[in-house]
Amino acid sequence: MKSLNKSRAAFNRAQKSIPGGVNSPVRAYGSVGGEPPFINRGEGAYIYDIDGNEYIDYVLSWGPMILGHAHPAVVEAVKEAADRGTSFGAPTEAEIELAELVKERMPHIDMLRLVSSGTEAVMTAARLARGYTGRDMIVKFDGCYHGHSDGFLVEAGSGLATGGLPGSKGIPKEITSHTLSLQYNDLDGVEDTFKKSGDKIAAVIVEPIAANMGVVLPQMGFLEGLRDLTVKHGALLVYDEVITGFRVSRGGAAELTGITPDLVTLGKIIGGGMPIGAVGGRKDIMEKLAPVGDVYQAGTLSGNPISVAAGIATLKELDNPEIYENLRSATDKLSEELSGGFNKGSISVRINSAPGLLTIFFTAEPVNDFSSSKAADASSFRQYFHAMLEKGIYLPPSPFEAWFLSIQHTEEVIKMTTDAHYKAINEIDIDT
Ligand SMILES: Cc1ncc(COP(=O)(O)O)c(C=O)c1O
Repeated sequence: MKSLNKSRAAFNRAQKSIPGGVNSPVRAYGSVGGEPPFINRGEGAYIYDIDGNEYIDYVLSWGPMILGHAHPAVVEAVKEAADRGTSFGAPTEAEIELAELVKERMPHIDMLRLVSSGTEAVMTAARLARGYTGRDMIVKFDGCYHGHSDGFLVEAGSGLATGGLPGSKGIPKEITSHTLSLQYNDLDGVEDTFKKSGDKIAAVIVEPIAANMGVVLPQMGFLEGLRDLTVKHGALLVYDEVITGFRVSRGGAAELTGITPDLVTLGKIIGGGMPIGAVGGRKDIMEKLAPVGDVYQAGTLSGNPISVAAGIATLKELDNPEIYENLRSATDKLSEELSGGFNKGSISVRINSAPGLLTIFFTAEPVNDFSSSKAADASSFRQYFHAMLEKGIYLPPSPFEAWFLSIQHTEEVIKMTTDAHYKAINEIDIDT
């Protein structure tokens, strides 16, 4: 058994000063039980806890660390930027460079505004869509997560799904009454909604590859349908690419799906592990933002020099087609091995994956939406999670989160993971 004595003590201590002992809910291991390892450092595909245990990391800070931990180019860029000062509240040239790097990779983005988190990016996108269209209603999808701003905590995935909560206390009904949450992949449902309320809908926001109810892929025609309906009814289509941006391909999910959204929200990878977010899109929409337009948005630390430096270094390192090819084949290889392992026994699982991310669902049924994701067996996941942790594989502590891969998840790392997996499934008592 791994010793987690120091982590246990730290968790007890943390709970006296920090609600639940953590600064973001899923970190508390509420749905899998036990104490979270407290992390001391990371290197490449590995993290090390304060008890000295080593883990292969599939959380990767929930997506940003696509280059692996402490990548020398990112660390160097951060140090160099910090030496020149950590924040100015005034424009810097590096912000232009990051904006240009993003635009070059995502040609549907004419302009972008940097903010400090994915939550802020989505909040700004919604305000912008409302300001641009003069309408109030936002359509989202059950199981998608768009950060924790008031209007989006309706049937949301990620931590809310992990906690089994349909929404959050503390949000006035008047605010969520402007959010309509529909079933992912149900284009008929979207069409009906547009028929009834098309002239009230400012935007449809979607994770083009959903990753917060576990990975759920858009079915053929779903995203095309959203594009057609939004154009027809004068609403905006917003791709939330906070996870998929620069992960599933060099140009993100828009490049992969071939559908051009009006607005895109970004985060995670564009900050290389430092806090960041961005909203980008068509010039005529983006110029509604203050100071050019009358939609207000601001931020003391927006475009922070350290985050921007880490983001630039990350995007530059990713600028090699082989990287995405390797990420895709590593994900395919891992998915194949994981499902192969399960098929050898009486266990039924479904593995959904996109390049750089995947989820194991303990169910025999296809997972295409939030209901089918919630129908998977949580207790099997819990056992599997702990068996893998014990073998040094650090998975997201929730059946509703994606496993993330980095460029440091080499063949050797994948092999060690699959070896651990075969051992783990022999130890657990699964009755799906
Ligand atoms: C798709 C998506 N949008 C928005 C967010 C919110 O980003 P942040 O946690 O940086 O506020 C997340 C966070 O995981 C996300 O997955």
